[in-house]
Amino acid sequence: MEAIVVEGGKPITGEVHVGGAKNSALKLMAAALLAPGVTTLRNVPDISDVALMAEVLEHLGAHVGRDGHVLTVDATELVSHEAPYDLVARMRASTCVLGALVGRLGRAHVAMPGGCNIGSRKVDMHIHGLEQLGVTVRTEHGYIDASGRAHGANVFLDFPSVGATENLLMASVLADGVTVIDNAAREPEIVDLANMLGEMGAAIEGAGSSVIRVTGVAALSAVEHAVVGDRIEAGTYLMAGAIDSGPVTVTGFDPSHLDIVLQKLEQAGCTLDRGTDRVTVSRTGPLRPVDIQTLPYPGFPTDLQSLFMTLMSIADGGSVITENVFENRFIFADEISRMGADVRIDGHYALIRGVAQLSGAPVAGPDLRGGAALVLAGLVADGRTVVTEIHHIDRGYEGFVDKLRSLGADVRRIELDGLETA
Ligand code: EPZ
Repeated sequence: MEAIVVEGGKPITGEVHVGGAKNSALKLMAAALLAPGVTTLRNVPDISDVALMAEVLEHLGAHVGRDGHVLTVDATELVSHEAPYDLVARMRASTCVLGALVGRLGRAHVAMPGGCNIGSRKVDMHIHGLEQLGVTVRTEHGYIDASGRAHGANVFLDFPSVGATENLLMASVLADGVTVIDNAAREPEIVDLANMLGEMGAAIEGAGSSVIRVTGVAALSAVEHAVVGDRIEAGTYLMAGAIDSGPVTVTGFDPSHLDIVLQKLEQAGCTLDRGTDRVTVSRTGPLRPVDIQTLPYPGFPTDLQSLFMTLMSIADGGSVITENVFENRFIFADEISRMGADVRIDGHYALIRGVAQLSGAPVAGPDLRGGAALVLAGLVADGRTVVTEIHHIDRGYEGFVDKLRSLGADVRRIELDGLETA
């Protein structure tokens, strides 16, 4: 088993470039199923989740090719409508093929995603929305079984679920009639998906707002599309610049996708210099305590919650983090407490009292963002930190260790029997 070893105390400064967004690329790959022909995706990150999604598409009969950050999906012939449990269990995001299979084939048999370390990952809104589109959905033996041709409908989501919005978008673009998704998710990854579907011939208005209107069309065609820059990867490296003193410049993303995060970093005492596709962060004074609450976009992203908790763990005072999106996303606090952080959890609330310095310790990453946050904690901790369960990190961060090393960090991957692997 591999681990990441961090020797704390090295200055963190330099420039990193982020890749395409994991949480868009996976859905764009699913959207390719909606059109016969070869779809080409550029700026696709080289991460294990993309490889897993390629396996799912191949299982369905598509042919996936990859050349660096360019991925092709030939979805001319689909031979199956099933996403089997063994694949979905390895990546819950595989459930995003549900809407595309319903749209293309009028048939889908997709394993229920099951829970993960951060929460139950329910799909009731996906199912209810499909039923409102006239699709017959049965859940049995751990599978979601959907059949029937979708027709337009007005769907109101109880919560602006990213996955439900995406599945309903992909199920409605070829439906008979007009679909309105109300209380839709507004994430930039939703806009990226809607942009690509539009390029394929779909008729979508309002993506990025809470009300998305889709007019069904007869057919879609394969296209070329570049994946939007990864705002969460960008936020991760900006936090690396903030937790030490920087300056760190992060390029390859749209800073307007991180507005509230940048605002909170400034409140915490950082100096930010924004460009059109980059931000430079630096800090001279102490980190000031700042409260955040995670919310659907454009609120503070839950995916950067553990990164911000790490920052607040060495701030000059007390702060409160409210987690409103995933019911178990404070699991990270147990691990950073092993490094000396003073965090008290009460339901949705975490009270963090800043300490002068964290101390290096062996810790286990609970999810991909928590794993990354523990490595960042190690950058400024006293001594050595060994982060295990790093397969989570590899799911969503391409070249994580290399990028941190390029910023001056003393960080390396090892096999747990002590041999260095990279
Ligand atoms: C996407 O997950 C992202 N994953 C998550 O990123 C991200 O944290 C999340 O959106 C919120 O922004 C991908 O895009 C692959 P949701 P998703 O549906 O679609 C509940 C990362 O670290 N819910 O908006 O699953 C659900 O249980 C990952 O990159 C229902 O109750 O998020 C959760 O508590 C982690 N019923 C909340 O809503 C449903 O039918 C938000 O879920 C659907 C969701």
